[in-house]
Amino acid sequence: MIEVRDVVAGYSREVDILKGIALDAREREIVTLLGPNGCGKSTLLKTIAGFLLPRQGSIRLEGAEVAQRTAPDKVRHLGVGFVPQTENVFSVLSVRENLQVGGHYLPRDKVAARMDELCTLYPVLGRKLKSPAAALSGGERQILALARALMPRPRMLLLDEPSAGLSPKVLHEVFDAIVRVREQEGVTVLMVEQNAMEALRISDRAYVLSMGQVALEGRAAELLRDPQMRALYLGGRTQ
Ligand SMILES: Nc1ncnc2c1ncn2[C@@H]1O[C@H](COP(=O)(O)OP(=O)(O)O)[C@@H](O)[C@H]1O
Ligand SMILES: [Mg+2]
Repeated sequence: MIEVRDVVAGYSREVDILKGIALDAREREIVTLLGPNGCGKSTLLKTIAGFLLPRQGSIRLEGAEVAQRTAPDKVRHLGVGFVPQTENVFSVLSVRENLQVGGHYLPRDKVAARMDELCTLYPVLGRKLKSPAAALSGGERQILALARALMPRPRMLLLDEPSAGLSPKVLHEVFDAIVRVREQEGVTVLMVEQNAMEALRISDRAYVLSMGQVALEGRAAELLRDPQMRALYLGGRTQ
């Protein structure tokens, strides 16, 4: 589904931030990217989404080589949905208007029906269609960002820290929203997370990045038991 091989990318010619990354996300998997601040997680998502073009390597989506295709192209034609780490909703626009913006590439007569589907999937949005996004709680805003990206019915979702800044209770609501759309629409999810333990619990597999390379990868259930993982992220807790 998503196949990344030997990807090298950076923001200037002189500095490589991603130094030869290989990663896979199979159909309907939830795959989490972990790693310390600044190790290149957001850069990798932006590169897969096409906001940054790799200078080397291959990115295949559903078998097609797309490393040099740009983000609008990937969203419009290649089934990619992307939710950036910050500024992922338009605060001054209402919930309805945010969803309409997300549906920009849909045929006009399909927008309302898709919005209804997403409001059924996420009733909290249906109840607040007229509210400005700025008036939503942190968790509601993350669910709106997710729904906005889901408007064009992507087959792959790239999520950058969907639980950032949320309390443990609200974090579960957002993760639940992610699990639900995977179940209902069969999307493949690749997400960056800081809340390693909670993210691994809803993931099939995970990768740990370190300084632009993959330091560790495996099945989420195994990583939850891995002593190296625990030492790095999970505070040595056994539960
Ligand atoms: N727009 C940018 N321009 C230049 N350097 C950047 C930019 N965004 C991130 N970087 C640098 O790239 C490195 C990786 O950043 P990032 O991918 O955001 O890390 P992470 O998401 O893992 O915290 C950092 O050294 C960061 O300073
Ligand atoms: Mg980041």
